[in-house]
Amino acid sequence: MTSVQLASNTQPLYSPISPNGQLPWWHHAIIYQIYPRSFQDTNGDGVGDLRGIQQRLPYLQALGIDAIWITPFYRSPMADFGYDVSDYCDIDPIFGTMADFDAMLATAHELGIRVVVDFVPNHSSDQHPWFIESRSSRDNPKRDWYIWRDGKDDGQPPNNWEAFFHGSAWTLDPTTDQYYLHLFLDEQPDLNWRNPELAQAMKQVLHFWLQKGVDGFRLDAITTMMKAPDFPDMPPDDPRFQGGLLLRLVDVHNYPDLHPILREFRQIVDSYPNQPILVGETGCADFNELMDFGGREALDEIHLPMNLKTPWFAWDAHVLKQAFTDYYTALSKGAVPSLVLGNHDQGRLASRYGVEHHRNANMLLLTLWGVPTMYYGDELGMLDGLILPEQRQDPFVGHDDYHGLGRDPGRTPMQWDATAYAGFSTVEPWLPVQTTFLSNVAEQEQDPSSTLNFCKRLIELRRSSPALHRGSIQFLETTEPSLLAYQREFEGIRNLIIINFADTSCTLDLSNMTDRVEFWLSSRMDVPTFDTVSSIFIRPYESLLLKLG
Ligand code: NOJ
Repeated sequence: MTSVQLASNTQPLYSPISPNGQLPWWHHAIIYQIYPRSFQDTNGDGVGDLRGIQQRLPYLQALGIDAIWITPFYRSPMADFGYDVSDYCDIDPIFGTMADFDAMLATAHELGIRVVVDFVPNHSSDQHPWFIESRSSRDNPKRDWYIWRDGKDDGQPPNNWEAFFHGSAWTLDPTTDQYYLHLFLDEQPDLNWRNPELAQAMKQVLHFWLQKGVDGFRLDAITTMMKAPDFPDMPPDDPRFQGGLLLRLVDVHNYPDLHPILREFRQIVDSYPNQPILVGETGCADFNELMDFGGREALDEIHLPMNLKTPWFAWDAHVLKQAFTDYYTALSKGAVPSLVLGNHDQGRLASRYGVEHHRNANMLLLTLWGVPTMYYGDELGMLDGLILPEQRQDPFVGHDDYHGLGRDPGRTPMQWDATAYAGFSTVEPWLPVQTTFLSNVAEQEQDPSSTLNFCKRLIELRRSSPALHRGSIQFLETTEPSLLAYQREFEGIRNLIIINFADTSCTLDLSNMTDRVEFWLSSRMDVPTFDTVSSIFIRPYESLLLKLG
């Protein structure tokens, strides 16, 4: 018999700081990420839109999430599908109108759902009127709103920095014979935040959306906003080149004068009464560095610097236990962790971890300590789509190129029903519907044991159990290495979560932990064999949520 036991000398990695106090809404929220192009098309052009989001809000309310984060819907030539913004305060016609946005926001709020929008401060589109002016002449008043430099004497780019997407980070503009900096596509010129007028104009954008009543911003590429002002070449033998893109770009990543700007952003959102939040796209070297973006001890910068490291870890009990232990240990006092396993830049959970593991991934995401971000469709176990080379849309062709497939496979249309285009659209969508997995919302709603109903139940239990949404967390020792077990506790109420990563079953002896086990939920959506006293049988790839008496 395999036994799961509390580690003898470990303390909880986190204990609630003000156990009985009212927590800000976002401390215990579940955020649901919507990629608007792929959520719901209502105007028959094969691309999702804001009315589509509004129409599907009741579905999200029934799922039980607290907030949606919508990736960019601003006016854009769509070179990077909205992350190239040509007007920060307008809606791209492909997504609808400002009236559609207002109506969607109002409906969300009526249904108790908060709305977080994307803010793209590192770069605009090259079609933004600011850049069109900036590139028109060297003495244009907006010249300095972007980053222009002369080439080297031999005509080469000003330095050897590489763009994240491909090639040099500099493009020569023939009109003025200078190079402009772009850390992503050529069509995404970087904004110069050291120019006070630009900084002011961008802060006005935050006010524009806050005055509409949005509940926060997800800050795109936020760690690279400030660059070393002397734009040094990266020496090829510098050890910082080793070990990955962010380190290679150390002179643009987490540069010290980023932090006063983040504090200003925080002051701006804090000046609005509805408690808007800042969520950061914060790639980082390690968990300790991640704390920089929250403001360390003062916690006066980003509320939720996203932990984007864990999606890259292997789906392995030992690896994940260590990763989350390291993360929780590194957290600044009072900081709230962010839980991310997938997003629009990654493959789907069911494809990356395997179909047999996708419910367990949702179990982990929704029962660890922290604020989970669920990616649309992962509540169904959607798989990566098959994208033929001629169907490819994603412009990302740099570095490892996501295994040559780009990011399209994880961005296919939401599967609402079994009709031709999965209820997403009446015409052929911009990306093909994923075909090898026929499951969809309509079907899963009817099936009591579906992944969707599993996620709904899990969210319901998380919302109703303070141990799960605000309790301490303690990882447990187990004699079976393919089990991950942890306990959440709040005011004496204990939940135990056990995830079986293996294709074998075992009996768990919990007699040293409790004299009474109460079964709450299995990923199999049935009731497993247990004797209510102190042992429970766990099946291959099963995860269990229990209450300990
Ligand atoms: C990060 C976003 O998540 C990604 O989709 C985008 O391509 C880059 N930032 C550039 O904005």
